[in-house]
Amino acid sequence: MENVIEAFTGVTPQGKKSRTPAKLDVMLTASGVILALFMIGHMLFVSTILLGKDVMYTVTKMFELEFLFEGGIPAVVSVIVFAITVIFIVHAILGARKFPTSYRAYIRIREHSKMMHHKDTSMWMFQWISGLIMMFAGLVHLFIMFTQPQNIGPFASAYRVVENHMWLLYVVLLICVEIHGSVGLYRAAMKWGWFDGENPKQTRANLMKMKKILSYVFMTLGVVTLAAYIKIGLDHNIAPGEKYQPNTNTIEILKD
Ligand code: HEM
Repeated sequence: MENVIEAFTGVTPQGKKSRTPAKLDVMLTASGVILALFMIGHMLFVSTILLGKDVMYTVTKMFELEFLFEGGIPAVVSVIVFAITVIFIVHAILGARKFPTSYRAYIRIREHSKMMHHKDTSMWMFQWISGLIMMFAGLVHLFIMFTQPQNIGPFASAYRVVENHMWLLYVVLLICVEIHGSVGLYRAAMKWGWFDGENPKQTRANLMKMKKILSYVFMTLGVVTLAAYIKIGLDHNIAPGEKYQPNTNTIEILKD
């Protein structure tokens, strides 16, 4: 009962202001930062296809710990996917606290946002709309990666993108994740004052610039990478389940 009273009044049974909302906010930021850093690494890994099929193949095998176990163990990737999925779900649940809980609440926020013409408020609206989309689209992607870790590679990925029409899901995810990630980092830096200096206006302008650069760079990288997978899928007549056969000479050079 005490918990119910605390949740509804924001005051503890001892009459102190509840710290729970602040703790949940810290957890929201922490999980968001972990996911943002993961996504930067993820985009760099996926985009190795731009350096050639053999490079992407080598990096994939590295994640499967091929340097320790002959042929690699794809299940290692499932373990990583599971860990990311847990953080993803925790972040989504914590973020859901900020969603408008009724149509009336949504309209009120939307009208407020229009009236204020305040960029940060409009960005906040994009945050929960893109978050909602990602909760569904992201989990579809994570489920496939968890259950089919053996189907990651130059041909298997290109086959999925083209023949399984995953490009459609990736276009939506890409737009949401790049903007959600950069806006999230910007808002977290503003909220917790990570880079606060003498001049708050200048700090805000600098952070906004960083946010834009991050969005443009990763969005461009994502689009070019997706185009590369589509090209491989269209150029090669990949059979279902067909794996890329690496050029052994190139692989030796890459390993050295
Ligand atoms: C450990 C977890 C993850 C793994 C192992 C993984 C792996 C991959 C792989 C191998 C691809 C290349 C295409 C394919 O094979 O289907 C890909 C593409 C993509 N993934 Fe993930 N992914 C993970 C988590 C996520 C998350 C959490 C998101 C965002 C919510 C995400 C968003 C995307 C997007 C947008 C693309 C398209 C890339 C592009 O257009 O350049 N992934 N992922």
